[in-house]
Amino acid sequence: VLTGIEAAKQRAAFKAVDDHFSPTYRYIGIGSGSTVVYVVQAIAAKGRAITDRQIFVPTGDQSKQLIIEAGLPLGSIDSLPPVETSQTQMGGVTALNVATGLQDLGLKGKRQSLDVAFDGADEIDEDLNCIKGGGACLFQEKLVATSAKKFVVVADYRKLQPRLLTGWKTIPIEISRLSAPKIKRELITLGSTDPSIRQGGSAKAGPVVTDNGMWIIDAPFPPLILQSDLKGHDKGDGEHGTWEVHNLGRRIKRIVGVFEVGLFHGRNGFQVAAAGEEGGGQKP
Ligand code: A5P
Repeated sequence: VLTGIEAAKQRAAFKAVDDHFSPTYRYIGIGSGSTVVYVVQAIAAKGRAITDRQIFVPTGDQSKQLIIEAGLPLGSIDSLPPVETSQTQMGGVTALNVATGLQDLGLKGKRQSLDVAFDGADEIDEDLNCIKGGGACLFQEKLVATSAKKFVVVADYRKLQPRLLTGWKTIPIEISRLSAPKIKRELITLGSTDPSIRQGGSAKAGPVVTDNGMWIIDAPFPPLILQSDLKGHDKGDGEHGTWEVHNLGRRIKRIVGVFEVGLFHGRNGFQVAAAGEEGGGQKP
């Protein structure tokens, strides 16, 4: 029997699957990290009569192994047909020890490959913007998330903070190794203190190499603000020392050699519907 954080992750995962998985779905994205392990457990528990008719698309080597070991049919994001999106559903859950959010990625009416994608996050703010990439899988995670009609973020209670970079301190950025020194310098001019190249487990291991052969820079920034926080002269463009989430994500992406940024944000707003015994709330 699981206790503490692991129990919270498992509860969040089973609730997310109860609420956002359908036997009628054909293509399902499976993200990375330790919480997604429980998402796969919850999906596998639906039984092979259901899951054998579905295709599961990973966001990297770790989730690929999870899918294979659970006996779920494996697919790949680059070999799926687009599926007509009739409706983008929005909604999600906050509950005691459970923070499950659903991002509306503004995809209504577009043709998307995946019916739904489930993934974890390192930190989630009030608008369901996320920091991702703690497991170095951020590019494929973003590719899968933005290929899905619904993106369900599954997280335990520690991850939910009013603003990003409150508990979690750095933004993971996937980069070309040749540009590492230049990117570090540019990040410092944007206000990052001491951006560093993520190292492997031991002193001998050297930099972490992602599934795409890239490196990761972890860039500390002060807490990020939301569009609703903008007032007066502060446009959240770094000039007054504060960055708004979208502005900073776009600005970092413009640096030559940056492959992907671990800031995930919706384009058309978000909604969180209450479903918790405690702590639930409705956000328009
Ligand atoms: C992987 O790159 C990350 O984005 C993970 O989804 C994130 O770090 C959450 O992982 P845990 O579920 O292990 O906290």
